[in-house]
Amino acid sequence: MQKAEPRKFAYADPPYLGCSHFYDHPESHIWDEKQTHLDLLTTLDKDYDGWAYSCTARDLGWLAPVLELDGVRVASWVKPFAAFKRNVPIAYTWEPVIFRRALPRREGDPIGRDHLSEPITLKRGFTGAKPHKFNRWILDLMGYQEGDTMTDIFPGTGGMTKAINEGVLL
Ligand SMILES: C[S@@+](CC[C@H](N)C(=O)[O-])C[C@H]1O[C@@H](n2cnc3c(N)ncnc32)[C@H](O)[C@@H]1O
Repeated sequence: MQKAEPRKFAYADPPYLGCSHFYDHPESHIWDEKQTHLDLLTTLDKDYDGWAYSCTARDLGWLAPVLELDGVRVASWVKPFAAFKRNVPIAYTWEPVIFRRALPRREGDPIGRDHLSEPITLKRGFTGAKPHKFNRWILDLMGYQEGDTMTDIFPGTGGMTKAINEGVLL
């Protein structure tokens, strides 16, 4: 039997809208424009078999056109340990992940659930660093299997590469 082609996956974790000042990248400011995010999502959907994109719950309104696409779903990262701010009485303790899972299904595709409960990482000094289990969950959401390609568009601390190298965490 002929071996199936590797599938192409991508994870996009750009600076969240209005949060570019947390990063010293020379072009960080472009992520303070909604259109930059919408253009990124168009590229993800055109160029990849499966993808995932992190944002905040506040962004779901203007991201609605993406959520209406057939096969696109929203998953939830719930943060039982998260930052509380004095002026925010109801803390933001979850983050949406918008994703498309690769189709058609292949034998061995990971199964899982559309939520993850995992505390924020305590890696200090890098805003937005995702915990190890989060990265593994993202791979499972998209349907990544060993041999597929995975592009971490905004690698930051490089945790996604570590999750890939460590394999399945079941
Ligand atoms: C939310 S962080 C990614 C965190 C990463 N997922 C992790 O777990 O460490 C966003 C990253 O995008 C980078 N960045 C900002 N503007 C960028 C741009 N225009 N092009 C590429 N990377 C950019 C930032 O420097 C930062 O490393």
